[in-house]
Amino acid sequence: MIQLVSPAKLNLFFRVLRKRADGYHDIASLFQAIDLSDRLFLSWSDQDQITCTDPTIPCDASNLVSKALKIFRSRFPFDGCVTIHLEKKIPIQAGLGGGSSNAATTLWGLNELTGQRASISQLTEMAAAIGSDVPFFFSSGTAYCTGRGEILEPFDLPTPLSGWLAKPTYGLSTPLVYKETRIEELPPRDPRKALNAYPYFFNDLEIPSFRLEPRLIPFRLELLKMGFEQVIMTGSGTAFFCLGGEPNPVEGVSFYPFASLKRSGFWYSPGSA
Ligand code: C5P
Repeated sequence: MIQLVSPAKLNLFFRVLRKRADGYHDIASLFQAIDLSDRLFLSWSDQDQITCTDPTIPCDASNLVSKALKIFRSRFPFDGCVTIHLEKKIPIQAGLGGGSSNAATTLWGLNELTGQRASISQLTEMAAAIGSDVPFFFSSGTAYCTGRGEILEPFDLPTPLSGWLAKPTYGLSTPLVYKETRIEELPPRDPRKALNAYPYFFNDLEIPSFRLEPRLIPFRLELLKMGFEQVIMTGSGTAFFCLGGEPNPVEGVSFYPFASLKRSGFWYSPGSA
């Protein structure tokens, strides 16, 4: 049995540049892995099976873990079947990349289980075929991501980052948020300048997400009133990362402490900030 950490990510800044002819959007975003993580257990078994501690998550072909298993087996066939068990901690529909991370961890784990035949660049290529955010999880923990999110440039975080995540009970669907995005209403910020100006946090997707889910506007204000210096949505929401303050317990809000995570060795280990 192989046991692996499957970390969440934050988008420290998120710029949406343009809509593309293939339906995706060109983005530029600083991605950061964090220590809030799921655990994934892979073992040989009589039949392929995916199980999950969260009963609301479908374990069928729509699960990105299942897509990762399918693509890995088609590219690197192996004898036998596997059971993949997911211990979920990362909230879903949060913009924290939990599903994408689970898919990347599955690719990594299957390659370990079946004799390390795929190179990192082959794993990253399979990752990009599963979803735009999946390749990031083969980075060392911080990356400036462009294209639809799959083109990675390493970035050195000058100092470790820590704070709190705040997640309301409701979530948002990523495709819907992109559909609601109007490029012409976004501030024309230069993402390279944002990268050079680190720490500089913002998220273009707040505008369409707030339009789709107006409860996010008072939600964000409530977090600011608690005294946090920065309250920024991650990805397509609905989780926010909050810096420079401490949370007050409020009904309907889940808080999670987080710290930036660096890959230690070949894959992520718990708590390597
Ligand atoms: O790549 P992924 O399958 O995770 O994307 C889910 C959906 O989000 C896409 O089908 C697309 O509608 C939208 N998307 C986008 N631009 C991106 C990434 C995702 O429009 N850069």
